[in-house]
Amino acid sequence: MTTDMHDLRDRAVLGTFFHAPSPDGLEVLADTLVVVDAAGAIAAVAPQGDPRRGALEAQFAGKTLRLPEGSYVLPGMVDLHVHAPQYPQLGLALDEPLEVWLHKYTFPLEARYADLDFAAERYGMLVDDLLANGTTTALYFATQHREASQLLADICIEKGQRALVGKVAMDDPAACPDGYRDASPEAAVADTRAVIEHIRQHRDNGDGRVLPVITPRFIPSCTDATLRELGALAAECGCHVQTHCSESDWAHGHVLERYGMTDAAALDGFGLLTRRTVLAHSNFLTTDDMDRLAARGSGVAHCALSNIYFANSVFPLRAAMERGVRVGLGTDISGGPSASMFNACRTTVQSARMLEEGVDPARPAGERGRPGSAVSLVTAFHLATAGGGDALELPIGRFAPGYRFDAIAVDTTRRAGGIRLFDLTDPVAIFEKVLYGATRANLSAVWVDGRRVAAG
Ligand code: GUN
Ligand code: FE
Repeated sequence: MTTDMHDLRDRAVLGTFFHAPSPDGLEVLADTLVVVDAAGAIAAVAPQGDPRRGALEAQFAGKTLRLPEGSYVLPGMVDLHVHAPQYPQLGLALDEPLEVWLHKYTFPLEARYADLDFAAERYGMLVDDLLANGTTTALYFATQHREASQLLADICIEKGQRALVGKVAMDDPAACPDGYRDASPEAAVADTRAVIEHIRQHRDNGDGRVLPVITPRFIPSCTDATLRELGALAAECGCHVQTHCSESDWAHGHVLERYGMTDAAALDGFGLLTRRTVLAHSNFLTTDDMDRLAARGSGVAHCALSNIYFANSVFPLRAAMERGVRVGLGTDISGGPSASMFNACRTTVQSARMLEEGVDPARPAGERGRPGSAVSLVTAFHLATAGGGDALELPIGRFAPGYRFDAIAVDTTRRAGGIRLFDLTDPVAIFEKVLYGATRANLSAVWVDGRRVAAG
């Protein structure tokens, strides 16, 4: 046995694991041996009674990390929507609607990332903090700048986070400020291509842990030519795609007015709805839009906290899942003022409950809400882990052979942490306490591909 938690490649971990392979299925893997191969993938999951257990214990004797009493392992969190440059604004600027917020606060902040020293310090802090918070995979919007987008990818490669990084395309002079927009559709596409090449050819990214993403900001900030060319590029390069979709009344209305159709239909027309597309927010999806996303295999990044501030609505999460739409969770830093995916799970449960029950006490109870909207904590946890991995088509979020060993050790005994178990022994109750109570101080180790990337 060992207590070295540093590098678990070609090693094993023995302890209790929680994961949710399906939306309703919490699995507690008590007293289980998980074997990690030399490349950081899970080679075996052997609970007590597994016929291979004895042989594996013998094979990994001296190379097995035994988790201390009171510690539990979860899959790493998958944050499907982060605006990396907005991190300095986290917890600020939440007083205006989206269309004002962008021009008054957000574009001026993002424009500063033309300065690579400014960018390096803030991006380095963000990636460190997200890893320490248990976010092992992040789908990032960078800024409009080519160099700073490349720098964000470099920092993720260096710090060991699994990341998908997109240079933001935004070229419409009618919607984007002077000094912070792509000079033309050709420039937007050329810089997008350059960032894709940079990430794919990076000498320290041979295993593709960091991936490029085609990232039109949202329809209102792009010309038709840019949207069309980026759709063609998605078909050509097979990259992931991300954008914002039907977020607020204003954004949704802009697209209806411009094209006479919804965001989802318009994005599909541009070739931007692929199996590797993630649409942020998507609050005003129609049932036809949901069917369209399900048919294309495109996913939604549900940003429950941000939606409270900017969306004029609660995303109909359960309806979307029931229609077959892939969904994961996002913090939407800084539209959502929290950098914790544990918080995203909590807010997902809370806002779905508010949609179910309704919120206006002046209305009669029976007319206040939308029945069939609530989701469980297990569902939220599933979406934050396996669901996010499925939306990205990456083998992450489950403890199963072939999946990457991206994981978090939660130490429930830390005085400085937020969890108090007292005499609880029921593992399902402990799981709930962990999800609701865990703070950064409880996360004793975070691994990506079996390599420790943060330790608390
Ligand atoms: N729509 C276009 N840009 C943004 C952004 O930065 N944040 C959010 N929440 N919505 C957007
Ligand atoms: Fe966003």
